[in-house]
Amino acid sequence: MCARAAIAATAAAVALFLAGQEAEAQYNPVASCSLSPAEFQSWFQDGVIATNGQVKFADSVAFPKDNSICDFYKWAHQMFLWITSPKGNQIILNSPAFYNVLIDAEGNGHYVSNAQNGALLGLRSGVNKFSLRSSKSDEIQPGGQAGGGDSLLSLNGSVVYFGVHANDVFAWFNTAVTNGDLPDSTPFPASAEDLAPIVDYALEHGAILPDSQAMTMELKTSWIEADKVSGDISDYIVMDAEVPNYQGNVGDATWTIGTPSTVVKTLALVGMHVVGSVQGHSELVWASFEHRSNAPDNDFYISVKPSPFVPPIAVKVPYNSAGNWNFMQTSGGREGALVSQMTVAANGDLVATPGNSIRPNDVYRVNPWGGEPDESSAGNNTQLVTLNANVDFMLTNAPGGKDVRANYFQLGAVWTKDGSLPSSPGDTGQQIGSLLLANSTMETYHQQVGPGIKPAFQHGCFGCHNTDAQSGGAVTPTFVSHLFSKSNAPLVPAGGKQK
Ligand code: HEC
Repeated sequence: MCARAAIAATAAAVALFLAGQEAEAQYNPVASCSLSPAEFQSWFQDGVIATNGQVKFADSVAFPKDNSICDFYKWAHQMFLWITSPKGNQIILNSPAFYNVLIDAEGNGHYVSNAQNGALLGLRSGVNKFSLRSSKSDEIQPGGQAGGGDSLLSLNGSVVYFGVHANDVFAWFNTAVTNGDLPDSTPFPASAEDLAPIVDYALEHGAILPDSQAMTMELKTSWIEADKVSGDISDYIVMDAEVPNYQGNVGDATWTIGTPSTVVKTLALVGMHVVGSVQGHSELVWASFEHRSNAPDNDFYISVKPSPFVPPIAVKVPYNSAGNWNFMQTSGGREGALVSQMTVAANGDLVATPGNSIRPNDVYRVNPWGGEPDESSAGNNTQLVTLNANVDFMLTNAPGGKDVRANYFQLGAVWTKDGSLPSSPGDTGQQIGSLLLANSTMETYHQQVGPGIKPAFQHGCFGCHNTDAQSGGAVTPTFVSHLFSKSNAPLVPAGGKQK
């Protein structure tokens, strides 16, 4: 594609993306964080953009030291496309590169490899075990009570299920720390030097880490039942998973767990947090993705250049809920939205909140692209709108037809300027990117900003994922993760060898 055609394609793609996701209005945003066809091509294993083709992981060790905001968004996007790349009849998320993490009643994690998954559960291999956000998470949320067990029902009546996943580098790093072979105070690896002892440790125990250059990654995924999605199921990434066997109807006060207590269902991916370390950033880069049919955006602004001779101006893209969504009624309003109707009780039952019943509630993204919904966020919004539009355009027009991954977009990402660790919920000084980032399916009820809202809930990812959320005293760098823990079961016993 010649340069002029590429620019025209980009502008068309931006207009298309906004039309698809927002109003029908015409926008021509300032091109920032553009992704050229040549660069996109280089992300693919075979060096060509191919429908449902395999994308490589981003090289986190080689992440530029002299970087731009756009470099982080591109890193996150490449990682998302890698994780959702087909692998046999599964996706990379279900390959040995990732472990599912099951949390037991004591709150300790168990890394379950995808090879083990089916065997452990007495199921065919590749079946995952997912849960709801359990009420347990209250204990590790600062301030306790506020909504740890809140749960969400889609418009068509599916519960939202969550999975937690870590890559092999993460699991082996955790193992080395749990077994006392690396000090507790070791930060997440953020350089080749940091990575080497983890790779060596795994190797000593018989494990080769083919994705070691991806460094440590942890994910949270959200899913709804495949037969209850808005739109066509072929527009979703699906997988089979074992989920709680809820018995109940929309409008009931309680849904109990039946016998057997779990069932295998085909689930459709609606959200994914993609989190990992890159060179110079052991605080991790916190990025998030959603399906386009989830929920509308609040008003937001983008930078538009009305003519080449004037500086850009901020133009408002108004809230627009026309169309069909998973978590918002067609043309539903913002008033009365985001009120949780139910929570998950300690025994796993779904219980309506006082005065409510188990039913869907309207959802929208309060701070689109993780920014205040005002002109101050126009620059950051425009970078994300442009990058998403470019990826969307190239995946939609891939030679073999539309790629299923074109139906997902990046909401944003957040990290710190110098790789420093946010020390408290309100420590926003060094943060860069999408400061108020929240996924409409995972932090649904923690998107509001303002008086009376706990600081932890109004500062995006680092509001809850910071070093003092759990420690209170000495700083343990890995506390930014709620998953990494010395009490997690190691992959091998201390001093042992992997079988
Ligand atoms: C309101 C507090 C809160 C906010 C805000 C929050 N998280 Fe979390 N997050 C948690 C808790 C608690 C867990 C642990 C278990 C669970 O509930 O899934 C968690 C788990 C995770 C996990 C799984 C691995 C782990 O560390 O346990 C990822 C990945 C994650 N969050 C990413 C994000 C991203 C990205 C954002 C910002 C878009 C974010 N979180 C915002 C509270 C929060």
